[in-house]
Formats: sequence, structure tokens, C-alpha cells
Amino acid sequence: MMQKEISIAPMLDWTDRHFRFFLRQICRHALLYTEMINEHAIVLGDRNRLLAFDALEQPLALQIGGSDPNLMAECAAIAQDTGFTQVNINAGCPSTRVQAGTFGACLMAVPDQVARCVEAMQKRTTLPITVKTRIALEGPGDGYTELHRFVQTVQAAGCRKFIIHARKARLTGLTPKENREKMSLNYPLVYRLKQDFPHLTIIINGNITSLEAVETHLTQTDGVMIGRRAYADPYFLATVDNRYYHDAHPILSREEIIERMLPYFENQMKQGIKLHTMTRHLMGLYYQQPRSKEFKQTLMQNDLKALKAFLNR
Ligand SMILES: Cc1cc2nc3c(=O)[nH]c(=O)nc-3n(C[C@H](O)[C@H](O)[C@H](O)COP(=O)(O)O)c2cc1C
Repeated sequence: MMQKEISIAPMLDWTDRHFRFFLRQICRHALLYTEMINEHAIVLGDRNRLLAFDALEQPLALQIGGSDPNLMAECAAIAQDTGFTQVNINAGCPSTRVQAGTFGACLMAVPDQVARCVEAMQKRTTLPITVKTRIALEGPGDGYTELHRFVQTVQAAGCRKFIIHARKARLTGLTPKENREKMSLNYPLVYRLKQDFPHLTIIINGNITSLEAVETHLTQTDGVMIGRRAYADPYFLATVDNRYYHDAHPILSREEIIERMLPYFENQMKQGIKLHTMTRHLMGLYYQQPRSKEFKQTLMQNDLKALKAFLNR
């Protein structure tokens, strides 16, 4: 049987390198994604800052927001040089800022454009090019015809893996948050997509919040992508290596995880990174645990000594 995939969704402002390093203490094998980075920023920006990561974060996919085949191809070459495992095109994010740049969810309306990007990118890299999208733009019907057409067009250009956030996107009048909350989920359409394209890798995303739900989705798809839940309660991923990747390493306690983060924090601080920039991502470590409040208060003290004292209590 093919290895099923568990991945953690790209989330702007959340899945930065510090969160990813932290998550790796909990789970070694899930595929991680960067935040979305714009095509212009990758080509023209400060790559050492924008694209840097620790080898421990691998396997790691670079998510790009863009739609210019030449720029996207350049980005793909850069991704390979930098050491990423995969390159992902964001064709699903519905924020208005994103639309102005003709990338994100509005790309669902122009599958040919996405196909041209995939083609151009594949000429410059041997890394897999993948696409993250939603079912369709808001409109009549359930959106399956549009989804099928989109995937048909983009796979013809060579894309073999699609991550489908199982809801439609509305391009006007809703914030991305409202777009996640108000548009309804339709998992069966993603299952149907897998049946219609059995040779493609189809990953399902949207409100997957428990390992029971993961199990259910894995019977119908090739993998799941988990977003907000992984940030709010990262420790729920502690058994993922064991359950899905046949890696029976001992599961670290929350305290052991913090202990392992201490040298990382010290090291990064020496390079000028503020402690809070990193520890803000740990707020959910004790989600619904007796020490949750105590831990969050400790983090707010913004002092490594306080964290060490927490471990000794
Ligand atoms: C704070 C935040 C930032 C996000 N940023 C991105 C992004 O950069 N690129 C992207 O494709 N999706 C982004 N998303 C959408 C997620 O990747 C995911 O598709 C969505 O949250 C649904 O999954 P979930 O219900 O498991 O959270 C973001 C979501 C959140 C909550």
C-alpha cells in the first residue's frame, strides 16, 4: 500500500521556521509547508531571511503565491537550490490582497495559467510541483465540474499532487477567516475526485481536528493536511510518526519538548531573534492540560530563566 501522507498546512504568520522547528520535536515525518511566499519576494528579496530553515524541518515544501510562469520557474529553481523537498502553488487563498496580485483563489478561474506555471516550473526543477486549491469559486452547483476541469487541465501539464481545501471560495466581501467559517465543507467531492483521478495524489484539507477524522479521510484519499488544529494543539500530533509512518521512537513529554527547544532558543537569540518571536508558537503545547495557564503565563514573562524554572517545578 502506498504511504499515506500527513501534512501541516501553510499558514501565514504561523508556520514560520520557529514553529516548524518546534513541531519537529513532536512529529518527525509529517510534511511541513512554509508560509506562502510571493514570487517576486523569492526572486528579488532577501533569500537568506525569507527562505532559511533548519535541516531538521525536512521534509519541507515551499509554498509560492504567484502566477507568472517565468517568475514561478525561477522560484522553482531557487527552491531546489535552497534544499526544499517540494514546491507548492497557492491556488486557494481568498484574501483580497492576494487577488490583486492574481494569485491564490482567483487562479481557480484560470486553470490554463496554472498549467503554464507548472510546465515552466518543471523545466527548471526535478522537485515535485504540487497545487493547493479549493473546490471552486462560489457559484451555482456543487462546484465539482469546475474542480474536475481545473485538475484535468493542471494534471495534463504534469502536476501529480493536489491538496484540496474542501470548500468553495468567495472572492468578494469575506475575509479569509470568514471564508473558512461561512463556506460549507464538502468532503465527498474530494473523495470523488480521487476516484476520478486514481493515479493522482489527492490530499484533503479543511477542519480536520482529530486522529479519528484523519483515519476516516485516509480510507478515501492519499493524505490529509491539518491546519489550525495543529497550531492550537500541536501535541495531538505526538503519535503520528508511530501510527502512520511506522516509526516507533519514544514519544517525548511536553516537558522534554521544551527542554529540547532551549538550546534552539539560545542559539537563535545569539543571532538576534527575539525570544517571543519563537515562544509565541508554543502557546498551545499544553492545550487543555492542567498546566496550560501556568505555561502561557510563563511564556508571557519572555525570559528563558522563567521557562527553565517552569521545567523544574
Ligand atoms: C492563520 C492562517 C494563515 C493561512 N495562510 C495560508 C497560506 O499562506 N497559504 C495557504 O495556502 N493557505 C493558508 N491558510 C489556509 C490553510 O492552509 C488551510 O487551508 C485552512 O486553514 C483549512 O484547514 P484547517 O481547517 O485544518 O485549518 C491559512 C489559514 C490560517 C488559519
